[in-house]
Amino acid sequence: MSEFPRNIRPQDMGRATSKVFSGRTESETTRKMYAETPTFFAEKIRNLLDAREPYVFADVGAASGEMMTNLRKLLPEYSLKVIAVDIDAGSLDRNIADEKLVANAEELPFESVDVIVMRYVLQWNNLERQKKILNELTRSIRKFALVEHIGADSNDSDEWRKYIDELFRGKDVPQLKREDYFLSSSAEIEKWMSEQGIRFERLRERRIDDAANAFIERWKLDERDAVETRRILGEKNYLQQTDWIIFPKKRTEQVCL
Ligand SMILES: C[S@@+](CC[C@H](N)C(=O)[O-])C[C@H]1O[C@@H](n2cnc3c(N)ncnc32)[C@H](O)[C@@H]1O
Repeated sequence: MSEFPRNIRPQDMGRATSKVFSGRTESETTRKMYAETPTFFAEKIRNLLDAREPYVFADVGAASGEMMTNLRKLLPEYSLKVIAVDIDAGSLDRNIADEKLVANAEELPFESVDVIVMRYVLQWNNLERQKKILNELTRSIRKFALVEHIGADSNDSDEWRKYIDELFRGKDVPQLKREDYFLSSSAEIEKWMSEQGIRFERLRERRIDDAANAFIERWKLDERDAVETRRILGEKNYLQQTDWIIFPKKRTEQVCL
């Protein structure tokens, strides 16, 4: 296995991840961030894939796989083999995919799959690793990848990041201490993809307000830490959510939207 890229442990992902990732959320923030993804992805897949063919999907950065499980339920007419990939073996324990692989998304351990879905993985990696992951996705897909990302405001990314950097410093809310992350904006990601010749289309972009709720719910923060989280995020208490479809580098087997 490749070197584990940063100091994250399963508990760094939050204490209520399973509940939140599966879409059982309390706030509008987490409903938009987590509960709506399977429906959004299912609609794209239905438009692009013929249900008479079998497909191999990889869920990259799958963790316990709640999103993929919900997505599968929405596509009962499809015959899918799902491979769950995560760099953290413990996170895969409860994943019910057909196959589970512990691996770094920078070097996926297969030749190719038909489709990759990847939600909220990039931001747990530094900038250079994010570029490598995006490149690796295009290398290993035969049809397309669906990527959902949460990150900085494209309009003033550096200023926006100062607030989240302060939160992840963990000085005031130690549970949220995080290292080696990078909250890239969609504008930055699209620039790298263009520079690397990656073909993509942006499917959706929206602002998600009261980002603090995501931390409060996932880490089950007490009242004091919840107040601190909102105070630190201040005027930048929001996230930008973006969805892309990414196509293979080679022009063979591509699908059209
Ligand atoms: C926020 S969780 C998202 C889990 C799942 N995709 C979802 O949306 O419900 C991020 C997951 O990505 C994994 N991850 C982060 N960087 C990775 C990398 N470079 N390679 C493989 N997995 C990675 C983490 O271990 C973690 O399980």
